[in-house]
Amino acid sequence: MPTSLRTQVGIVGAGPAGLVLSHLLHLQGIDSVVVECRSRAYVEERVRAGVLEQGTVNLLAEIGVGERMKAEGLVHYGIELRFGGRGHRIDFQELTGGKGITIYAQHEVLKDLNNARVATGGQVFFEVEDVSVHDFDGARPKIRYRKDGSDYELHCDFIAGCDGFHGICRPSIPVGVLTEYDRVYPFGWLGILADAPPSSEELVYTYHDRGFALLSMRTPQISRLYLQCNPDEDIDAWDDERIWQELHVRLSSEGWGLTEGPILQKGITGMRSFVVEPMQYGRLFLAGDSAHIVPPTGAKGLNLAVADVQVLARALARFYATGSQCLLNKYSHTCLRRVWKVQRFSWWMTSMLHRFPDEKPFDHRRQLAELDYVTSSRAAATTLAENYVGLPME
Ligand code: APR
Ligand code: PHB
Repeated sequence: MPTSLRTQVGIVGAGPAGLVLSHLLHLQGIDSVVVECRSRAYVEERVRAGVLEQGTVNLLAEIGVGERMKAEGLVHYGIELRFGGRGHRIDFQELTGGKGITIYAQHEVLKDLNNARVATGGQVFFEVEDVSVHDFDGARPKIRYRKDGSDYELHCDFIAGCDGFHGICRPSIPVGVLTEYDRVYPFGWLGILADAPPSSEELVYTYHDRGFALLSMRTPQISRLYLQCNPDEDIDAWDDERIWQELHVRLSSEGWGLTEGPILQKGITGMRSFVVEPMQYGRLFLAGDSAHIVPPTGAKGLNLAVADVQVLARALARFYATGSQCLLNKYSHTCLRRVWKVQRFSWWMTSMLHRFPDEKPFDHRRQLAELDYVTSSRAAATTLAENYVGLPME
């Protein structure tokens, strides 16, 4: 017989979506329990994204988990688009009235959130097994799981599916309810973490005949770099010398050089755009990667997850304060307006900056014209800047 537990909101997944939601609910006096299948160490060491939109930075600071981010994060007010061997800066500060981004690794954000949850008595259970969700089409949903050999049944009012693209919540929604929108790109990214000081103050996105490359960073000592590759590329075919050589070629620019260093970590990720509609069913609400995936070119994954749970936390607070389900009923509609605008931006950045295997000479010229337009028109540069720093929350 499983041990019964009770909370107001059951959350599956302790990634950015689950932990931000749990802390937002705590600040509203709403109890939650987070169940996570990985260990805390694993979640806090997983190398993921690193760009925080202005809105995400503001929120983390407002909810009391921004101290280390403010101290260690790198604030940037622009990025460089590089093509034809020349760089063109997009000035976020000028084009968005002072907004910027902060470079601060996702796993660092998770460390800060986990510490905040522990400090405020948060219930985040790591290394749980066999998680399943039940009865969310009624008023008494429950989450079943095993922990340290014992079975548990968590009775809650609502379930938040924050368990990522490969989680169990989305697939638990009955067949026929969801519509999936999917686009798989014909390339991937080979990413490295290198013990090398970044060779640029700001991020550099480059369009090159041999393919896309990106110079990013984690700290003044650690570089994060990516290059476009085949989606099924074998990472073992890329030794450090070949990776650096390709990065030198693609990132080359007059009077500029790329500093090399020992590669600490390398990997290949596929690229896709994915959205599921609706993002809710009964009392189960999907948030973050469980509901949508964006190609990393727009640096939006984490930020979109945080935006979803801000909407959900506000709706749950309204319910517990007044009994009204009006915001809960609009959750999916509200989130999807932002999701699709972010999908468009991420698709646009990806389509503008990558070489496509089936492209025609016309496409190549069109891409160069788009880059020329974005870097020579204030109106065009403003659309990139306002999307990159983050559109305002509704
Ligand atoms: N039971 C419990 N936990 C699960 C299960 C399960 N069955 N399946 C997945 N999880 C956990 C994962 O281990 C992970 O820690 O859910 C969490 C989901 O976190 P993310 O995948 O990070 O998704 P999300 O919180 O939406 O954040 C999206 O994270 O991965 C990046 O690129 C992504 O930047 C984006 C951001
Ligand atoms: C990163 O630093 O990991 C990063 C930055 C910008 C992107 C994608 C990834 O568009």
